[in-house]
Amino acid sequence: MRILIVGASGIVGRAVLGELGARHDIVTAGRSSGDLRVDITHTESIHAMYEQAGPLDAVVAACGKVKFAPLSALAAADYGIGLQDKLMGQVNLVLIGMHHVMPGGSFTLTSGLLDHDPVLQGSSASMVNGALNAWVRAAAIELPNALRLNAVSPGVILEAMAGYAPFFRGFEPVPAARAARAYAKSVEGAQTGQVYQVS
Ligand SMILES: NC(=O)c1ccc[n+]([C@@H]2O[C@H](COP(=O)([O-])OP(=O)(O)OC[C@H]3O[C@@H](n4cnc5c(N)ncnc54)[C@H](OP(=O)(O)O)[C@@H]3O)[C@@H](O)[C@H]2O)c1
Repeated sequence: MRILIVGASGIVGRAVLGELGARHDIVTAGRSSGDLRVDITHTESIHAMYEQAGPLDAVVAACGKVKFAPLSALAAADYGIGLQDKLMGQVNLVLIGMHHVMPGGSFTLTSGLLDHDPVLQGSSASMVNGALNAWVRAAAIELPNALRLNAVSPGVILEAMAGYAPFFRGFEPVPAARAARAYAKSVEGAQTGQVYQVS
């Protein structure tokens, strides 16, 4: 398969690249790294990326930013960061990409555990993850051309604990390589409309 990984240079993306790169032809993309440059917060940039990418059998999104801060410090604009970036950025990768990905191909997005296992300062991430999971279940049943759509919802990633540990005391970290196998299940399997929890 020819697979586009957006966010391939990140903690999650590198592991997905390691897992899928062993068996497939990979095209990497990121805002400041990769074979192709894209800013998922701008639809024109996503259009341009797909124009350059050529034929694709699968797209993996391992990107998405949200703001972590106490509830009392989060204004509408702060929630807007997560809505524009992690939520609509990934949604737009599908809405625009469904006209570029080969029939029978797939999209795999990334949410996270905070929708059902919240932490202090994580309300924006919880909001976005819940919305992503709900959208994936709904959009999957309407995609044309036998395209499939799933989300991977990893727990806090072991390799990210240097920065995230203070937010996730008591959580069992998930090695990135284990999370990456859920992306392989989505891309190389046949299921659609699924949210794969990796905890
Ligand atoms: N780390 C965790 O513990 C964890 C747990 C659960 C879920 N997640 C989710 O997994 C996803 C990836 O997290 P991560 O920790 O791997 O992040 P990361 O290490 O910060 O990597 C982010 C990746 O996304 C790219 N990127 C950033 N902004 C972009 C933009 N506007 N347009 C296109 N690409 C962009 C970056 O590329 P450049 O460097 O080139 O900009 C980089 O490759 C996020 O949605 C995160 O919420 C992470």
